[in-house]
Amino acid sequence: MSQAVIQFKDVVKAFGKQTILDRVNLTINSGKTTVIAGPSGQGKSVTMKLILGLLRPDSGQILVDGQDISRMRGKALNEVRTKFGVLFQGSALLDSLSVFANVALPLEERTRLGKDEIRARVLATLGQLGLTGHEDKYPAQLSGGMRKRVGLARALMLQPEIMLFDEPTTGLDPEKSLEIYNLFLETQKKFGYTSIIVSHDIPKIFNLADQVILVNKGKFNTFASPEDIQQSELPEIQAFVQSTMGKVYLSREMEYRV
Ligand SMILES: Nc1ncnc2c1ncn2[C@@H]1O[C@H](COP(=O)(O)OP(=O)(O)O)[C@@H](O)[C@H]1O
Ligand SMILES: [Mg+2]
Repeated sequence: MSQAVIQFKDVVKAFGKQTILDRVNLTINSGKTTVIAGPSGQGKSVTMKLILGLLRPDSGQILVDGQDISRMRGKALNEVRTKFGVLFQGSALLDSLSVFANVALPLEERTRLGKDEIRARVLATLGQLGLTGHEDKYPAQLSGGMRKRVGLARALMLQPEIMLFDEPTTGLDPEKSLEIYNLFLETQKKFGYTSIIVSHDIPKIFNLADQVILVNKGKFNTFASPEDIQQSELPEIQAFVQSTMGKVYLSREMEYRV
């Protein structure tokens, strides 16, 4: 049985008169991949910020490993945040630092490891992400896909329990996006973290997920498979299927390696 790492219980979040999350309930299980999808402006990034404790809900509970973070502050909240690794749109690499230095940064800033140990860990992770031989390059010398890999390597250095990806393939062509999603999946299996991916690359990545959460007008619906989404009787989900998924899309028709 998988354990719940993150749970939203009746979470409400509004900005002014605009209700973004309207009594949302969701569960994300340990070691699984959850994709959060839906039209833009519907609260996907807000959800990520709520999970990280960067925003607070107006009401409801947000449990991380059973602890309600919605009322936590300061030290306690920082402690919980060490469980997370994040990879957002731009990869946020520092242009003036080499690949090696970018990836080493979290270890230098957040641990007391010695130089040799840091070097060993950085090189090992770069190797696992197919970046061996690129450690002395600078971000500007890398392709978009490689920058994402470096961003992922850096996010993994502190061995997060949970990885958050917010629109991680923005700026990549569809083929490269698929390659990156495959890499996420392989890496997730290797490292064993819980993965939450916000994406509008629909339906390409649904098959990578153990569950899909569709966000629409403040309501969050959880589905176990693409077929479940297509068979939903909710009118708003049917409209979503028609506009984004096209023909009935079977998860057995794998377009993926893995
Ligand atoms: N800090 C904020 N203050 C006011 N409105 C916000 C704030 N953050 C997000 N919003 C609004 O909340 C809605 C959802 O935003 P967001 O979660 O970024 O959407 P998306 O699903 O595209 O990631 C948008 O209408 C956005 O303008
Ligand atoms: Mg967003």
